[in-house]
Amino acid sequence: MLEVVILAAGKGTRMRSSLPKVLHKLAGKPFIEHVLDRSRDLNAEKVHLVVGHGAQEMQAALAGQEVNFIVQSPQLGTGHAVQQVMPHLYEGSRVLILYGDVPLIKTETLKALLKKVTPNSMGLLTVNLDKPQGYGRIVRGSNGNIVSIVEQKDASEEQLEIKEVNTGVMAVGAQHLLKWLPQLSKDNAQGEYYLTDIIALAVASDVQVLSSQASSATEVMGVNNRAQQAMLERLYQQEAAQQLMSSGATLADPARIDCRGSLSTGEDCFIDINCVFEGDVTLGNNVSIGPNCYLKDMVVGDNTEVYANCVLEASQIASNCLIGPFARIRPGTQLEDSAKLGNFVETKKAVVGKGSKVNHLSYVGDAIVGDHVNIGAGAITCNYDGANKHKTHIGDGVFIGSNTALVAPLSLGENVTVAAGSTVTRDVESQQLVVARTRQKNIAGWQRPVKPKND
Ligand code: UD1
Ligand code: CA
Repeated sequence: MLEVVILAAGKGTRMRSSLPKVLHKLAGKPFIEHVLDRSRDLNAEKVHLVVGHGAQEMQAALAGQEVNFIVQSPQLGTGHAVQQVMPHLYEGSRVLILYGDVPLIKTETLKALLKKVTPNSMGLLTVNLDKPQGYGRIVRGSNGNIVSIVEQKDASEEQLEIKEVNTGVMAVGAQHLLKWLPQLSKDNAQGEYYLTDIIALAVASDVQVLSSQASSATEVMGVNNRAQQAMLERLYQQEAAQQLMSSGATLADPARIDCRGSLSTGEDCFIDINCVFEGDVTLGNNVSIGPNCYLKDMVVGDNTEVYANCVLEASQIASNCLIGPFARIRPGTQLEDSAKLGNFVETKKAVVGKGSKVNHLSYVGDAIVGDHVNIGAGAITCNYDGANKHKTHIGDGVFIGSNTALVAPLSLGENVTVAAGSTVTRDVESQQLVVARTRQKNIAGWQRPVKPKND
């Protein structure tokens, strides 16, 4: 069985934040959750999370997750961190050690590393860096085998030249860890218990240390400050954009799209610049999203076009719809086929039926709008009386004149016509015309007031 140990007790001083480092976000999700996702991909039996600084906040933030929190206090090094997990490990397990602040690590890389673990061998993930400063160096013997890791601060001039470094990620049988960890000493430049010292102990006990290479330097990069966070964010987004394009979407500019969640696109979708996608967004075939749109938890049907500057959230849009520019679709909206929402229209908990049009400047909330309804400019559903929300039902074929207030609870039958400027407070039966406004008076010979002359 596989047990994952995630180290996340460090303070993260350089983030200059009151929030524990691993709760800072990449692509809208805390670093630590990216790492937990990888543990899930690998079907880990157990995940042990070593926390220290901000332990309580971490436990609160991850309350819903199946994680065994282990508090390390004080923090005496990476070896000491893993020592805290020892009583929780099952002797027959393979143990994968990850860092909570390395969010881009790939499942495939970890799978390859885990293959190196046998009763007589362990796996160490290394990477070659042009500038290895700060990292532990991989020391190999004359036959090329790994013999130890030496930390930057303990390294000789010669060892500092080594370009192959320790990523910190390793995989090893629990039986070995349980034997080696108690042997660590803090007799080194930093006075810490180094996890990396188990490499020399492995060699001494004839357990071969097999290296596996990270696919790129970026996948094993840790975040220590906001600049690195921003850099990893861009790398993540570049990759997300590449994936969208390889699955057939056209991006006006792959550098100007952000996916903070999962975005799936059908065939021939087009996404213009500066769009942000959050949560789960599904676009059907041939969907077009204009510039500067924000979509969160949305399902959008085939051939629908969303014009510039729209905000769409937690709603469903069917096929052949036209939306925006400047439309706001709030949670619980359902647009049926060929519906149209124009500029400065807001909807919330509303069904808009097939072929219905809400073209400009309207609010439709807590409403069920039938098919082929036309709602004129500036019409609103008055759904709130200050204490309660009420529903508006609008039948098929209704025509609502401009600047109408529909005071809910209200029901308009099929093919009702509402005169412009009406304030409708009582139900209207099918086919009726409702005029609910004061009658126009024209006053002849009217004299406008005249401004006094100052001379
Ligand atoms: C460590 C490695 C180094 C490697 C580098 C890769 C050791 C001794 N050195 O160095 O070989 O090249 O990572 O980034 O292992 N942590 C705890 N408890 C502690 C100390 C650290 O949980 O007492 C956690 C940190 O939160 C962090 C991770 O362990 O997630 C690594 O700690 P860090 O201090 O960054 O290690 P480095 O000195 O960079
Ligand atoms: Ca580090």
